Amino acid sequence: MSTSQKSRAGSVVILAAGHGKRMKSAKPKVLHPVCGRPLIAWVLDQALALEPERIVVVIGHGGAEVEKAVRELGHGDRVRFVRQEPQLGTGHALQVCLPELGANPGVTVVLYGDMPCLRPETLLALVATQAESAANGMAILTAMPAEPRGFGRILRNEKDAVIGIVEDRDASAEQKLIDEVNLGVYAFDGQGLVAALPKLSNKNAQGEYYLTDVLAAFVAERRAVEAVLLEDEDEGLGVNTLAHLAEARWALQLRILETHLENGVYIEDPASTYIDHGVEIGAGTRILPCTVIRAGAKVGRDCEVGPFAQLRVGAVLEDGAEIGNFVEVKNTRVGSHAKAKHLAYLGDGDIGARSNIGAGTIFANYDGVKKHKTKLGERVFVGSGSVIVAPNTIGDGATTGAGAIVTRDSNVGAGEVWVGVPAKKLAGKSASSARSATGAGESSPGARKSLPGDGKSQPGAVPSQPGAGPSQPGAVPSQPGAVPSQPGAGPSLPGAGPFQPGAGPSQPGAGPSQPGAGPSLPGAGPSDPGAGPSLPRSAPFQPGSEPSQPGAGPSDPGAAPSQPRAGPSLPRSAPSQPGSAPSQPGAGPSLPGAAPSLPGAGQSETERRS
Ligand code: UD1
Ligand code: CA
Repeated sequence: MSTSQKSRAGSVVILAAGHGKRMKSAKPKVLHPVCGRPLIAWVLDQALALEPERIVVVIGHGGAEVEKAVRELGHGDRVRFVRQEPQLGTGHALQVCLPELGANPGVTVVLYGDMPCLRPETLLALVATQAESAANGMAILTAMPAEPRGFGRILRNEKDAVIGIVEDRDASAEQKLIDEVNLGVYAFDGQGLVAALPKLSNKNAQGEYYLTDVLAAFVAERRAVEAVLLEDEDEGLGVNTLAHLAEARWALQLRILETHLENGVYIEDPASTYIDHGVEIGAGTRILPCTVIRAGAKVGRDCEVGPFAQLRVGAVLEDGAEIGNFVEVKNTRVGSHAKAKHLAYLGDGDIGARSNIGAGTIFANYDGVKKHKTKLGERVFVGSGSVIVAPNTIGDGATTGAGAIVTRDSNVGAGEVWVGVPAKKLAGKSASSARSATGAGESSPGARKSLPGDGKSQPGAVPSQPGAGPSQPGAVPSQPGAVPSQPGAGPSLPGAGPFQPGAGPSQPGAGPSQPGAGPSLPGAGPSDPGAGPSLPRSAPFQPGSEPSQPGAGPSDPGAAPSQPRAGPSLPRSAPSQPGSAPSQPGAGPSLPGAAPSLPGAGQSETERRS
């Protein structure tokens, strides 16, 4: 038998019927998102890694929602749903699957919908162990958490063979001292499982049908039982509370970040960087602190993102693009080497290569009913504080003056220069003069009304009506020279470019010579000290902070044992830790919990315990 055949399961059953009461949320537990996708999506990935013939998801509480979400994830064809109503325990959950499983379901792996951190490698090792050492029996995943309270305990005989599992609430004081626990994940011989399930009894402390009793039945029938001890405790995280959810998120986030780091993406501060599952980022890209990149965004090579940037669904940064602080990009292509470095909202847009989006630019995409597109050509220069009301197009090489309000459907032609409120085409401007004006960053006579508050940070941008400049003493009284009155007369543009690097002040006293303009913008937060380092990474993960589920009655199947959380062992600094494992499958022996090291680890633990 080849390795791949050995590692395949016949059936995978995902238990997801429980209530999840301790989440204190109306949303079904397995639909809570972690790194951009629901818990159940992570577990479906685990199942798919085993290449089973069938995947059965047991649903109950919020079942219709769960089913819908799984279909939306694109697994509708692959998954069969079985309703468990009422929920009478984990054994009962498997019993209701019997019609789907049939007489010979093949090796049957049981997973929990609330355990997103298990690595596929670990499950492959579990299945391989079952095939190699317990082909007529089962393999069970165990762990030695710092706090075993709440878990079922693994019972072993004097020869250290596993002979049973006793639930926390059925355990004697002596049994409660056992530190090896059941994680609830198993690989069963299918025929043995199908034969044992109907015989389960519910005579126990919780009046439930325990799946764990199948193990004792296997032992009685002299079927082999092998334990596989989990090496990396984080993998065993079961989400029962929002604190657990935060902890699972961090464990998975770290894996995502590690993968990007391995791929040549520079991440200055992993602790303050949020990158969802499935985001592609090209090598050579730099992600600066406090950046959020959501699922459905895509970043090319040699880009720069952040600090304090947010890329949302549909944001596509082509190679060399730069998105700086307090810029939000949603459903917008940012062309190669285009830049938006400060304070902008770019929604539903398309920005051509080498365009420059000035500070404070808004793509006003929403009219209250519908979202509309803003399309910019290549080498467009959008002056600071421009609002471009969609739908709109701005042609190649066009320019908007600082503070311009480009009303919808203005459809600025290639090379044109538009300024003012509402923005109007500036006569006499050609593409080439626009480019030179922009490039020079000269301030200009403004053919436009002043905007309230504009004058403070955009001195060059508060010009007057043609000819009216000097007679508007209130506009920018403190900026003599900034409000020339000759529209179109000067070689320059209104307020163009206080924030443009290299913008040379050709007019003394005009915009570019206002060094305070950029940094004084409200909310220029890079100086906010609270943002990054103080993120409360460890708060929810204090060991001992877990309630031991008092009051979680037998009627609450979702009320899981309070899993001890290994607070201090959270790999906060993992990316830089020597020996910290790459999360790439196939990266070899240094993977925590990777297949080869699991069975061996289990053995040595066993020896240690005996
Ligand atoms: C179970 C195990 C226990 C193990 C623990 C690990 C049994 C009897 N006990 O505990 O040995 O240490 O998992 O977390 O199996 N579920 C259903 N239908 C039900 C009951 C549960 O679908 O009727 C689902 C839940 O949604 C959850 C999973 O099964 O995803 C486990 O249920 P939970 O109540 O958390 O586990 P326990 O029975 O406490
Ligand atoms: Ca649980």
